[in-house]
Formats: sequence, structure tokens, C-alpha cells
Amino acid sequence: MSQSSGPAALMQQAEDIMALNDRGAYTVPTHGLYPFQWNWDSCLVALGQRHSNEPRAWLELQTLFEHQWDDGMVPHIVFHEPDDGYFPGPDVWATGRAIPTTGITQPPVAGFAIRRLFDDAIDKTLAKECAAQLLPMVDRWHQWFFNHRDPESTGLVALIHPWESGRDNSVDWDTPFERVPVEGITPYVRRDLQHADADHRPTKAQYDRYLWLVEHFRSLNWDNTKLHNASPFQIVDPGFNAILIRSCDDIAHVADALGHADIAERNRAMASKGREALELLWHEGNGQYACYDRVEKTLSDSPSIGGILPILAELPVHRAKAIVARIQKLNASVNYLVPSHDPEDSEFDGKRYWRGPSWLIVNYLITSGLRTSNEHALADEIEAQSLSLIETSGFAEYYDPITGEPCGGASFTWTAAMVMEFCQLPRTA
Ligand code: DGY
Repeated sequence: MSQSSGPAALMQQAEDIMALNDRGAYTVPTHGLYPFQWNWDSCLVALGQRHSNEPRAWLELQTLFEHQWDDGMVPHIVFHEPDDGYFPGPDVWATGRAIPTTGITQPPVAGFAIRRLFDDAIDKTLAKECAAQLLPMVDRWHQWFFNHRDPESTGLVALIHPWESGRDNSVDWDTPFERVPVEGITPYVRRDLQHADADHRPTKAQYDRYLWLVEHFRSLNWDNTKLHNASPFQIVDPGFNAILIRSCDDIAHVADALGHADIAERNRAMASKGREALELLWHEGNGQYACYDRVEKTLSDSPSIGGILPILAELPVHRAKAIVARIQKLNASVNYLVPSHDPEDSEFDGKRYWRGPSWLIVNYLITSGLRTSNEHALADEIEAQSLSLIETSGFAEYYDPITGEPCGGASFTWTAAMVMEFCQLPRTA
């Protein structure tokens, strides 16, 4: 697919996709494959929406946080309207909420997004009002993570389901998944394969385990005081933790600006404890960070993007330099940075979701981190490769990092939002 080129044309195409997937008070990731509101999609989409409509960007976040649970968790999907085209739907999750949601969470990019919306706002009055409303909610979510996903107070939180990572079928989960059983799950029909190529999606063996975990947590009534310890899957993902650390830092910055010293202090403390603990996930052999399996007490050897994303967390200089070297090495194996798994690893699959493809949202988070570490040359290169990918292959969900082939869903909202960020044209909102 060839698109008309240049930043203004890309910007217009991106805006058209955002409008197509806009449902009024929230945005769906794409028509068909993902027909509801997804947590981290929405937060990153707000960064695109602000380019043409700041009130709409704030509304995207407000809608998501209206569905925060009483214990502080912000769920990974909000099922605003019924839609048979997706599985597993609200009846499978059965979380008992009036407007149904899932019972797990997703990478907490809200704090990161809110700081960007707040700092760069054209309408400062609106920004102050909306940030002040969202601030305590984000703070509660951050506390929820450390209360419920870090019972031994290590400074790092664990995922209890791969869907929480956003990197559903990463190679990182292959070994821990061996101990997730499949016996007894209710027979089911996948819907994702009606919308996307089966070779680009997770396998049946993985879906069976996703479903076993959902049914297991449902049998515990989604009680977050029990789920962490009851899960056979407890993984400390460096990328996920880096996003949380960065969001704690960013929310502390906004709290300072709004005069909420207590929120600022608490979030700064969580960030600094997390940053210190992140060092334990350094994998010297891979030259990047790695996932820690809390059940087996082992560090994974899987060289995935999860171990590169910590660049977002304002790393010590020697670690930031090591990550730069790592990305430069990956650059020799691909045409479009940054692959979600190292092409030199035997498990790499350039088309299968999180087992190799490049994603624009990952590139955005990585370039943000590189810029914080003053690594602008590499950030510029990743942005240029990202835009060239869009010009060649359109606004897909993800891309083969070697051929540039578009994979997964099409007309993808967060891809469009990231293009708007990368184009950096003057804003009108
Ligand atoms: C899916 O259904 O593929 C989603 O990634 C779960 O969040």
C-alpha cells in the first residue's frame, strides 16, 4: 500500500483514522478486531487527539478513569457497548460491574500521557482542571500496583496475565506458560481470526492459557487481595515496570505544579525505589534488561523489547549507553526499528504480533526515553524509520521489521496517534 507522503499528508491520514475510530467519549483501537476501549491504547491515543482537539484528548482519559475499580485498579478493557465480534467478552470476564470491564490491568501510561498533555497544553485552564481531576485517580492506581502486585515490597510489580503486559504472545512468556494448565477450560470460539491473519496472531495453545487464567481469577471473584499469590504466572516485566516508574515521575511533576505535595512525594518515592530495583533485572549476557519469574525465581534469557523499554525510566548513564548500543546492534538486523524480539534469536517471528514485529507505540516510548537521556541522534533515526514505514505500508497495527509488511489490524488508532506525535506539526487546539 502506498500513501501520499510528507508530514502534512500523513497528519491528515492520521486524523481521518482517529475520526473513523472515535466513538464520542472514547476511541476503539480499530474497527472489528478491537471494538471497545483499551486502557493503554486510549492513553496514547489522547496524545494524538491533542493535536487537533485538546478537550477531546482529556475526555478520552476521563472516560477511562470513570471505570476505575473501588480498589484503585484501572481495567484493561471497558466494554461500553455490546459487540459479538470480540472474544472473550463481558460474560466470560463476569466482573459484575454495571458497565462491564475486564478484571486485569494494562501498562500504566496514563501518568506519562497526562504530563505531556499538561505541559504542552494550549488551553492551560482546561489542562489544570482536567489534570487536577485525574491526578488522585492516577495516584490511586499507582498505589494499587504496589499494594497488590508487590506483596513483598520489592519495589517492582508483577503481571499475572500476559494481556496485562500488552505484549500478549511475547517469547518472554513461553517458559512460565508451561506451568499454566489448560484442563477444564470452557470450550470457546476465537473471534480475532475473523479479522486478522492467523499467522500474525497468538496460537491456540497460548489462547487456552489466557483463558485458563481468566477462569481461574474469575473463580476467585476478581479479589485483588488474592490474585497475585494465586496466579501460576507472576512475571516482573522490566518494560512494564519502567512505564510505571516513568508515570510515577511524571505524575509527581504534575502534582508539584498543582500544589499536591503529598501525591508528588509518594510518587517520587515509588519511582526511586522501582528504579533502584530495576537494576536487579539487568542481563549482562544480553546487554539489556530481562523478565524475572517470581514463581521460579529466575531471570529469563529472552531478548525481547521488554528489556529495552526501561530506557523510558531515566536510567543511569552507563545503562542508557548500553541500551543505545543494543538498539544499534538490532539496527544491523532489521530495516525498521525497533523489533519486539531480537531477530538473531531462534524464536523470532517477524509477523507474529509481539514475537518480532515493530510497533510505533513502542518506538514512541523508546524515543521519549532516549531523548530524556540526551540520545537524540538515535531517537531521530527511529522516528525517521517509523515515518518511512507508514509511508510504505500504511497505518497498520504492527509491521515486519525486515520487510515492512503491515500486519494485524488496519487503520489503527494508536499508530495514527504516534504518527501525529512524530510529525511534530504546529498544533491548533
Ligand atoms: C486481544 O484480545 O488480542 C488483546 O490484546 C487482549 O487485550
